[in-house]
Amino acid sequence: MLSTEPAALPALPALWLRDNCGCAECRDPRTGQKLFQINELPAKLGVESAESADGEWQVVWSPDGHRSRYDATWLAEAGAPDDRAEDAKELWPTAAALDGRLPDASWAAYLDDPAERTRMLDAVRSLGFCLLRAVPLREGQVREVARSFGYVRETNYGLQFEVRVEEEPNNLAFTNVRITPHTDNPYRDPVPALQLLHCLVNEADGGDSGLVDGFAAAARLRAEQPDAFAVLTRTPVPFAFRDATTELRAESPLIAVDARGRIREVRFNNRSLATLRLPANETEAFYAAYRSFAELLLSPELQLEFRLVPGDCLVFDNTRLLHARTAFERGGARHLQGCYADLDGLLSTLAVLRRTEQQR
Ligand code: OGA
Ligand code: ZN
Ligand code: ZN
Repeated sequence: MLSTEPAALPALPALWLRDNCGCAECRDPRTGQKLFQINELPAKLGVESAESADGEWQVVWSPDGHRSRYDATWLAEAGAPDDRAEDAKELWPTAAALDGRLPDASWAAYLDDPAERTRMLDAVRSLGFCLLRAVPLREGQVREVARSFGYVRETNYGLQFEVRVEEEPNNLAFTNVRITPHTDNPYRDPVPALQLLHCLVNEADGGDSGLVDGFAAAARLRAEQPDAFAVLTRTPVPFAFRDATTELRAESPLIAVDARGRIREVRFNNRSLATLRLPANETEAFYAAYRSFAELLLSPELQLEFRLVPGDCLVFDNTRLLHARTAFERGGARHLQGCYADLDGLLSTLAVLRRTEQQR
């Protein structure tokens, strides 16, 4: 059918459209950053005229006569999900859901091939982890791995920390005992979003590794016990760490949701959960829900089990996955080097890799 009607500008809020004007008066052409404040726009903003030609809309605004141009494809784009929240992830409710698919690559391939680098960083974004193999057995190499996609986050444990049996441990990680599934440093604000563990020696009997998808477990709790889920999203929980030179404390719900109620962060660490000081009814509700969540998180079928061998470097999302290790024999040699980093840096590196991919 032939239509003589001119196409209408899609029904879009005027302020939104004007806020996204890309002209040189509205945005600095060098940086693309906006040059105006929202309250500087006319209060009674209206579209005076809108014409479409060559895949572009030209808008003249009233009352100020300002002119804007909008690419029609850009206007039709859908919103992108928040990279940190559950919708953007591939959840693995049990270890079996990964079906033997360990996202791994050799360090050499990761360094040399942008497609491999993209695949590994995207695995951290989507599955919550990746495993780099044959990473050189050099002291401090774990920081080089962090620097390959972002920046090391220094903490009271140093720029990097040694995971091995210490004479005077300030953390159970630095002993030979079993470490049950947990997220690291929940007593820190902001919590380090990424953790790296590089295996240098693992000759001990035991000392195997485990990972659990905390988002998948939280989603299951929401489906099966919505009241418990709600309690865990709204109860602030104190976490604390202290040794001779440090005293850290932070408060957060065990399950944090974003402004739209989507799961965005899980904290779970029985070692460093501190004393709650809440009204008795809230405390009771919290402990019942905490117990339910623990039962879920700690059930063996959720845990992906594997053994780190020298040269393996595990990179994982500490705001989503829980990690664990089995006990190992007292005298056995085991040495990992670890460090922390942040997810925003990794996601930025991934986005830039994708940009260059599109240009090829
Ligand atoms: C840690 C930790 C696990 C391991 O250092 O945070 O949990 O495999 N270590 O020793
Ligand atoms: Zn403009
Ligand atoms: Zn840990």
